[in-house]
Amino acid sequence: MESNVKYKEKKYWNLRYAEEDCYEWFKDYSFFRMFIRRYVKSNDKILMLGCGNSKLSADMYADGFKNIVNVDYSEVCIQNMREKHIDCPGMMWMTMDIKDLKFDDAEFDVILEKGTLDALLVDEPDRWQLSEPAYKTMETILLQCGQLLKTGGKFLSITFEQPMFRKRIYARKCLNWSVNYHTIGDTGCIEYFVYYMTKGEELSQSDQDYEQAVSQRRQLWLNETNLPTTLVSSHQEENDFTKIMVDS
Ligand SMILES: C[S@@+](CC[C@H](N)C(=O)[O-])C[C@H]1O[C@@H](n2cnc3c(N)ncnc32)[C@H](O)[C@@H]1O
Repeated sequence: MESNVKYKEKKYWNLRYAEEDCYEWFKDYSFFRMFIRRYVKSNDKILMLGCGNSKLSADMYADGFKNIVNVDYSEVCIQNMREKHIDCPGMMWMTMDIKDLKFDDAEFDVILEKGTLDALLVDEPDRWQLSEPAYKTMETILLQCGQLLKTGGKFLSITFEQPMFRKRIYARKCLNWSVNYHTIGDTGCIEYFVYYMTKGEELSQSDQDYEQAVSQRRQLWLNETNLPTTLVSSHQEENDFTKIMVDS
């Protein structure tokens, strides 16, 4: 498969993980540690979405976070990671699709993802208006995350997608959380964002206004195209994730 649509295919990840031992998307734990430590307590129960073969969970474990449940839909990945981390009691590895998370409500203090949601959005040509299937997929995943979090719990999302795009997905009243973020510059020109959502807190007034404006525009766009699943784009620029995926 030539294009980066492959990042949405489970078969691609299974084949890749059959060959590859370790790969870190974006940056490793040390780069984001300061923010993770700010929002996660050492005895928190943490759900890692789309863990891949990254060292993030193992590094966090070594740094004192012992209660981590890792999920990925690649059974090859989960099998490998389970064997590799057999000496980490408390760390769990489960094959699971993040669109269908099978946990109890309010089971987690923290849900963490790094680059996993980006992989699901990788073939979206217009980040100003997500296609209807992608929009619904994000909604499904995030509504579940909200349910799995305790009140006051945090959803941490590490990505290089800028707030003008990512807030369209995260800043929604139905998700029952507030949205904030940190920006971290790299030595190059890339900026990373650590979004942190707090379950049970209200969206700020400006985020509520933003949601309203975005949703009105989305409705107009849907009416105009009258083809919700057709991708009509006026902003066809390549996004950062596409560039990095292609470059790496
Ligand atoms: C870009 S990699 C990120 C891996 C890791 N989080 C990191 O920081 O290096 C995306 C990961 O998400 C997993 N993934 C993609 N879609 C998924 C889904 N629907 N359910 C569970 N895992 C998924 C892939 O198998 C892959 O391991």
